[in-house]
Parts: sequence; structure tokens; C-alpha cells
Amino acid sequence: MKEAPTLIQYGQAIDPKQMVAPPDAAELEVDPGTPGLDDPEYMARRRWIFHECRRHRLGNLGPPVFPFTPEETALWRDVSRRLDELHRKYACDMYLAGKRELAITPDEVPQMRHLSDHLRAKTQTHLIPAEGSLPYRTFYEYIGNRGFPVTQFLRHPSQPEFTPEPDIIHDCLGHVPAFMTRDFAEMITLIARAAAATDNGEHVLLLKRFSWFSVEFGLMAERGQTKVFGAGILSSIGEIPNSLFSPDVTRRPFVTDVVVATDYDPSYMQRNLFVAPSLAFLRAEAEALVRRLGIRVQ
Ligand SMILES: [Fe+2]
Repeated sequence: MKEAPTLIQYGQAIDPKQMVAPPDAAELEVDPGTPGLDDPEYMARRRWIFHECRRHRLGNLGPPVFPFTPEETALWRDVSRRLDELHRKYACDMYLAGKRELAITPDEVPQMRHLSDHLRAKTQTHLIPAEGSLPYRTFYEYIGNRGFPVTQFLRHPSQPEFTPEPDIIHDCLGHVPAFMTRDFAEMITLIARAAAATDNGEHVLLLKRFSWFSVEFGLMAERGQTKVFGAGILSSIGEIPNSLFSPDVTRRPFVTDVVVATDYDPSYMQRNLFVAPSLAFLRAEAEALVRRLGIRVQ
């Protein structure tokens, strides 16, 4: 594929260099719309978790184990109970099996360190403690080495259904269960290795879109029904019914050329979704895309 003159992401032109060498933040930076900004206790806890996770990440220490506060536990119970009901009805088989095997329940906030041990035993993947959203290159390098970066903070309890950035509810209830499935683990490892191996900003963007419309916001056909596969949908009480039933959402078959040419905006409810026929199909499509881009993956 030719290098496009301008790259568009989230509706805006971006510098291709940004896709391969983004900045890394050493202090907690939050979106101005973050609920809890005016709650000093909450922000102090966020900063503490940020530094603890960053220290563990940079020191290769694995996810820290720490007790969650009664407020955090109450929030987890509230949100994950409501999600659990939706998952039983609408999540794809692969997700439900992974969640069951990992024994992720609404009772207690899971310790990422324990989940990581399970993943390592089953699919030779593991979890990396992330202080927040990591630069894409860094993020992909970890995944390429079979480590998935996860956050451990919780959103503010004033808005239990909303967080502008991934938190433990998104990561643990959205992403982690899928890593118990071999095809998923191999697919995401390949995408990440390719994204980390290329210096072509356009290629990174195409891989990111493939990932967004599958791993993050994908739907999956199962026994004549459409089920939820993507973590961004699975971790959101609003997105699950929106993705499956809203008349404002288009649900097209997952055609890779169309998918990688489709821009998206992560800050709104998603309107363009794609339905994959199976996980094996997605894995084969990811392999074909990497070959077509000519990226050499170790
Ligand atoms: Fe995500």
C-alpha cells in the first residue's frame, strides 16, 4: 500500500510520526471531563495507583497486589453485576468461557496478578501493570511479547457507567477473558508485533483500525445470532444494547478492506460496527493483512 499524504484519525489530520513515536507521561494526566477531578481523595488514590503501577511496569515486577477500598469494591459489585446479566444474554461464547474459567465474579475486584498467572498457564500470555493508557508503540511492544497492559484503578463512583479512559472494569471485564482463547491470543500478538515492527505510520493506523473494529468493538455471528465480542462493548452497560439493537448503528459484515478504511471516534457511542463470522476468520484476516502490508514479523 502507498503512504497516504495525510492520515486521518478521530476525524482529524495527524502527523504520521505520532503513530510510531508518541510521548510517554511520567505523571498522571487525566482528561478534563474525568468525573472525580474535584474529589481530592479520589485523585490522590488515582495518583498513588498510577505511580505504583508505573513502578511495577518499568521494573518488570508484574501487576501489584493491593487491597481495594470498600468504595471501590462497592462500585465493582454494582457495575459488574449489571454487566454480568447482559453478558449472559449477549456475549459471545469465547468471552463467557474465559470469564468462567478465570472465575471473574461480581463479588470481589479481581487481582490482576492472579488472572495473569491463569493466562500464563493457559495461553502463555500475561498481564502488564499499566498506569494508564500507554503510548501505542509501547502498548503494542508489550502485547507483541505476549503481555497485555491493564489498568487497576476504578472510575469515580459518581458516574459508574462512564470513564473517559480504560479502567479495571474495562480491562478486566472487557479484555482479559479473551486471552484464555488460543486463536485470540495469537491474533492480537501478531497485530501487535506488526505494529511494533513497522515505521510506517499508515500501516500502524490500519492495524489499529483492524483491532478497534474487532478486539475493541467487534460483533460476532454465532448460531444465527449476533453476539458481542469487543471489549469496549462488553465493558459498557450502554454499549451492549446500543451495539445490538440501536437503529442508529450499522452492522456490516467484517470485510478487512472496508474495516481498515473506516475512521472512528472513541469518545462517542459507536455507530459503525462489523460482524465477523468467527474468531478463526479474524485471525486469518489479520495474518493476511500483515502479509499484504509487507511487514516482517519475527
Ligand atoms: Fe480497550
